Amino acid sequence: MSNKKIVLASDHAGFSLKEELRRYLEDKGYLLEDYGAFASEPVDYPDYALKAARAVAARKFQLGILICGTGIGMAIVANKIPGIRAACCQDCFSARAAREHNDANILTLGARVIGPGLAMMVVENFLEASFQGGRHQRRLEKISSIEKCSG
Ligand code: RB5
Repeated sequence: MSNKKIVLASDHAGFSLKEELRRYLEDKGYLLEDYGAFASEPVDYPDYALKAARAVAARKFQLGILICGTGIGMAIVANKIPGIRAACCQDCFSARAAREHNDANILTLGARVIGPGLAMMVVENFLEASFQGGRHQRRLEKISSIEKCSG
C-alpha cells in the first residue's frame, strides 16, 4: 500500500461497482476522492471521465480508476487528455503490465464485464505495481512526442 492519491469516477453503469471499490479501498487505507456519479440515474460517461482525467493530468492525483459499462468509453475519453495513459483492463496480468510497461495513470473497468471480486483483484494489481522504466521509458517518450505533434 502506498500513499498515492487516487480519484474514482463512474457513470450510472459503473456506479454500484465504484461504491464497492471505494469501500474496499478505503478499508485498505488508500487515499481516495470520489468524482461521482453519486446515483444510478443515467448520466454521460464523457463528463465524468473528462473531469477525473484532467485532475490526474494536473497531478492532483497520481492514479485514477474510471468505471462504465465496458470500460471502453471511459478509456476513449481519458486518452484524449494530454499526459493521460488510460488502460482498460479486465484481468490482473494486463492491469499489472499497464503500470509496469505503460506507466498507465488511469485504469478503466467495465462493470458489465467483470464482477466485483475480480475487479478488486484487478485494481490491486494496478495499484501495487510500479513502472519499470528502462526500455519502457524510451517508448513512453515516443508516445509523448506523438501527443505533442498531433492535433
Ligand atoms: C452506458 O449505457 C454505457 O454505454 C457506458 O457505461 C459505457 O459502457 C460506454 O463505454
